[in-house]
Amino acid sequence: MSPPALSLTGVTKKFGQTEIIRGVSMNVAAGERHALIGPNGAGKTTLFNVITGFVRPVAGRISFRGQDVTGYLAHRLVRLGLARTFQGARIFSNMSIAECLAVARRRRTADALSAAELDEILALLDLEKYMSEQASTLPSGLIRLLGIAMALSTGARLLLLDEPAAGLSAEETEVLQRSIRRLNQVGVTLVVVDHNLQFLMGLVSRAIVLDAGRLIADGPPGVVTTEPRVIEAYIGGADLAED
Ligand SMILES: Nc1ncnc2c1ncn2[C@@H]1O[C@H](COP(=O)(O)OP(=O)(O)O)[C@@H](O)[C@H]1O
Ligand SMILES: [Mg+2]
Repeated sequence: MSPPALSLTGVTKKFGQTEIIRGVSMNVAAGERHALIGPNGAGKTTLFNVITGFVRPVAGRISFRGQDVTGYLAHRLVRLGLARTFQGARIFSNMSIAECLAVARRRRTADALSAAELDEILALLDLEKYMSEQASTLPSGLIRLLGIAMALSTGARLLLLDEPAAGLSAEETEVLQRSIRRLNQVGVTLVVVDHNLQFLMGLVSRAIVLDAGRLIADGPPGVVTTEPRVIEAYIGGADLAED
C-alpha cells in the first residue's frame, strides 16, 4: 500500500504564547479530495502555512508521500510536489496566462515549463482560449483557475486550495468544482478550505474540522457536518448555513 500523500502527527504552532494549531494529527490518502473546514479564525490558513513550509511548527511531525519533511521550507516542498494557492489572488497582473505559468514555474524550479506541460495544464483547466490574455483583465472565476494553474505548473502532486470559491458566482463555482475534479482525475491529491459548504460537500470524499486550532471531527462530509460539536463550533459564525 502506498504511504499517505500527507501525514501530520501532533502538529503545533504558536504565535507568541498563543497556540494557534494544537496537536493536529491527520492523514490524507493519495488521490483523495479532502476538505478542511472550521469557523473563521480556527487556524485553517495557519495549518496550510505550516504544511507548505511558510511557517514552522513548534512541535509535531509532517510527512509527504512517506518522507519526513518537518521543518522543510516552501521552495523545497514545492520541488517535492507539494503546492498551495492563497486566499486572494497572487497572480502577475501585467502578464498573460501563459507567462504567469512560465514565471511561476521558473521561480520554483530550475527547469522551464515545456510547451507540452503548458498545453496540458491549460487544457485541464479549460484555459486554452485565454492563454494570451493579460491576467488583470480576467474575471474572478478565471483568475482563481489561473492561481491553481500556477500552482500546478510547479508539478504539484498534492495541492492545498485556500478558499478557492470565495467571491465567485454560482456558475463560476460550478466550473471551479469541475476543474478541481479533473485535477484529481489526473492524480493530484487535494485539500480544500472553503466557506461554501455546498461547493465542498459536492466535491470531497472526506472532511476534517478544525476549531480553535484543534481537530474536532474527521470523516465523510455528510457525517461530520451533523456532529453536535461541529454544529456548536459554527454557532455564532453561522458559517455552516452560509452558501
Ligand atoms: N502571523 C500571525 N501572528 C499572530 N497571529 C496570527 C497570525 N496569523 C494568524 N494568526 C491568528 O491565528 C488564528 C487563526 O487564523 P487563521 O489561520 O487565519 O484562521 P482561518 O484561516 O481558519 O480563518 C487567528 O486568531 C489569527 O488571528
Ligand atoms: Mg483562512
